[in-house]
Amino acid sequence: MWSEKYRPKKVEGLIGNEEARLVVSTWLAEWKPGGKAALLMGPPGTGKTTLVTLLARANGMNLVDLNASDVRTKEMLGRKLGEAMSTVSLFGERSLIFLDEVDGLAGRSDYGAVEFIKDAVKESQNPIAMAANDPDSDQIKKLASSCVAVRFRPPPPREVEMYLREIARAERVEVSGDALRACVLEAGGDVRQAVNLLQSGGSSGTSHGASYKDRERSVSEAFNGFFGAADKGEAAASLRKVALSPFEKVRELSRSVVRSGLPPEEMARAMEVVSRADLAIGRMVKGGEWRLLRYLDRGLVDGLFPVVKGGTVRYAGQDDLPFPVLSRIWNDSKKVKEVSLRYARRAHTSGSAARSQDLPYVFALCSGKRFREDLERSLGLDADKEMLESYDRFLQKESTR
Ligand SMILES: Nc1ncnc2c1ncn2[C@@H]1O[C@H](COP(=O)(O)OP(=O)(O)O)[C@@H](O)[C@H]1O
Ligand SMILES: [Mg+2]
Repeated sequence: MWSEKYRPKKVEGLIGNEEARLVVSTWLAEWKPGGKAALLMGPPGTGKTTLVTLLARANGMNLVDLNASDVRTKEMLGRKLGEAMSTVSLFGERSLIFLDEVDGLAGRSDYGAVEFIKDAVKESQNPIAMAANDPDSDQIKKLASSCVAVRFRPPPPREVEMYLREIARAERVEVSGDALRACVLEAGGDVRQAVNLLQSGGSSGTSHGASYKDRERSVSEAFNGFFGAADKGEAAASLRKVALSPFEKVRELSRSVVRSGLPPEEMARAMEVVSRADLAIGRMVKGGEWRLLRYLDRGLVDGLFPVVKGGTVRYAGQDDLPFPVLSRIWNDSKKVKEVSLRYARRAHTSGSAARSQDLPYVFALCSGKRFREDLERSLGLDADKEMLESYDRFLQKESTR
């Protein structure tokens, strides 16, 4: 989750609510036994939990996190709170007690949680911070009256937008300003949700939905360029532009042929070429004859193009079910992009040429462990263990498509 990965690591990394943050950190710095509790009130995704966590760390304090769901009964609350309240280390280090999402607790008025907490605060040897979503609930109002109460508000849209842009840059995804703003608007001030929208491909409809559509369009244009080509040269050029692995290329071709209006005899001929190509790829990959994959396009141009040319066959992708192939490309597009950039640099070609011409082959070759490991090393995908593992998994998956 990007929202976890990019959870600010320092208080200064948070956006919005500068004054509120200052109030809370001053409260903590000045707190002495007998002092008030702090109550952070505001909608989800404004950084309340993050702030308290970071302040504890910055002050070298142990955080004792008591979530409402952990202390479902008065007895549980009493026991956990009692323990935490009195614990001061030998060296006088204090804990910061945090009752997060206290709405849930306070809401159960039947057990008098609010009174209970108020009493506890007076006796605590450690500062108590609380966070709540709804400042207007009666219970929270009651609690607020005895606390240093601080309101958190949604950060300004511009700041959220800038924050998302930073994350997009770090993740190397290209997102337009409009798309970013759509995420911001849809999230309505909830930063976590804005980040989640960015990660899941944008707010409904817009954002990198566009780039998914672009990919879909480019694959479909390339196939239709092949089917409608004037001659073999044009057919070959179009086929090269199909940014799919050899397996996928052949599978998509066969789907298009099957759904076309070709007369039976021609359809049978076309299907024979396609299934021979499919078998050949399987054999090449299995036998490690990687170089032969390069002849796949030529085989399809010589064998298939003369049968399908003339405009009867069109690419059958779009009106089909959600395209597993393209959605996969989309989901892994970050890795595809990173690999193609690095590959292009090594192979001294342009990134887009690498992606459409070489990469499908390179991916297919990756079913061989030796090849895959060499590639990972030469592209520097082995900088750390986590990176290597995630790329290795990705390349293995790519190779078997
Ligand atoms: N003010 C903020 N600045 C930067 N990121 C934020 C901010 N508020 C929330 N986030 C993002 O949302 C996630 C959840 O934040 P959190 O502190 O749990 O919010 P809250 O407790 O107010 O619901 C964080 O991991 C972070 O990615
Ligand atoms: Mg929270």
